[in-house]
Amino acid sequence: MTTRTRILTGITTTGTPHLGNYAGAIRPAILASRDSNVDSFYFLADYHALIKCDDPLRIQRSRLEIAATWLAGGLDVDRVTFYRQSDIPEIPELTWLLTCVAAKGLLNRAHAYKASVDKNVETGEDPDAGITMGLYSYPVLMAADILMFNAHKVPVGRDQIQHVEMARDIGQRFNHLFGQGKEFFTMPEALIEESVATLPGLDGRKMSKSYDNTIPLFSSAKDMKDAISRIVTDSRAPGEAKDPDNSHLFTLFQAFATPAQSDEFRSELLQGLGWGEAKNRLFQLLDSELGESRERYHQLIERPADLEDMLQVGARKARSVATPFLQELREAVGLRSFVAQTQVAATTKKKAAKAARFVSFREDDGSFRFRLLAADGEQLLLSRNFADGKTAGQVTKQLQAGQPLDVRSEDLSFSVWLEGECVGDSPAFADSAARDSAIDALRVALTPVQE
Ligand code: TRP
Repeated sequence: MTTRTRILTGITTTGTPHLGNYAGAIRPAILASRDSNVDSFYFLADYHALIKCDDPLRIQRSRLEIAATWLAGGLDVDRVTFYRQSDIPEIPELTWLLTCVAAKGLLNRAHAYKASVDKNVETGEDPDAGITMGLYSYPVLMAADILMFNAHKVPVGRDQIQHVEMARDIGQRFNHLFGQGKEFFTMPEALIEESVATLPGLDGRKMSKSYDNTIPLFSSAKDMKDAISRIVTDSRAPGEAKDPDNSHLFTLFQAFATPAQSDEFRSELLQGLGWGEAKNRLFQLLDSELGESRERYHQLIERPADLEDMLQVGARKARSVATPFLQELREAVGLRSFVAQTQVAATTKKKAAKAARFVSFREDDGSFRFRLLAADGEQLLLSRNFADGKTAGQVTKQLQAGQPLDVRSEDLSFSVWLEGECVGDSPAFADSAARDSAIDALRVALTPVQE
């Protein structure tokens, strides 16, 4: 059931998305998320934003605008997990666990940090002048983002490849130190979309806020039109043949047009279409491609409470993965309950795992269920009802597959969840300590035995 590729990426919330961000990252990510073989995690990297920006209003504004942009662009939040990094307290907690195994020498080599040091040295400053621990530890926080959800693929720009490599490095170190043969963390791979063009900006250089050459995305039709009128062209007059292959106006057009539309525009330029008219064509194309999304964007921005609700749902989804996983990691490093005696449990793991057993049975109504009994016969779990024996069998198999267990405690009992669905419940225990040790026994029983 869980063989889908998990794709995860973060968007730093320091600015307003422009046309280049849309074509280069947002649009391809939204398209990729529609693939049924893909399980997408997209999030607003607002903790990362704090590293680069100390203007609270800008942070606030940017989070809202980026959230609205992705949703207006067609991201389906029922299908993907879309959340704010800062709504997941497990992220900073994992960051600390990783910080404790990350080599300082590794972080010394991070490009972004090194660039800042080089600049200081060049200008005769102290090498670390103006460099915060946030900037220095940036790759560890990013590693936590990625490793927390065991992402397989991480779509990023080239400047971020090194960070994904560092995530592998740090994750591997953790696996090695605490996994006892078990790989807690999946090794992520950076995904660089070669086919996605970086759009040129108004002046022909890469479209980027730092060059002040961007075309706005959803602000208004007029803003878009004004920006397009400022696209730099050569001085050929109307009637003179233009050179489409050396025109960034044409490149921009192509990024949004069908091949047939591009061919037509190309031949018109060759036949001497004036630049004023060419800009008009580009505007018409962009307006027809993006006008509807722009409207949705403004509707979303006007209802921030709805956006807030959607992101809260996303946070709950993300935490249903993060909470049980972090619990496992805490146990692995030794942050264990005094009561649960996991130390003892761990040493008898092999025996317990062998002795625990599933017992399946059929209800009067024909549905199938199973119990999970601990070595001493204590009932740990009673499953929900399944329509057929096959489904019940698959669930027991999946529970034993060694994936992080999603166990949720409630009062004196607990339940076990698979992919967002409750599959079984425990009996009620005498007290919370008894409940917690049953949870530990359950984890031990369901841990695959390594021979
Ligand atoms: N550092 C990334 C950027 O600036 C944003 C980011 C934060 C990210 N956490 C991530 C990207 C995790 C991918 C995965 O582009």
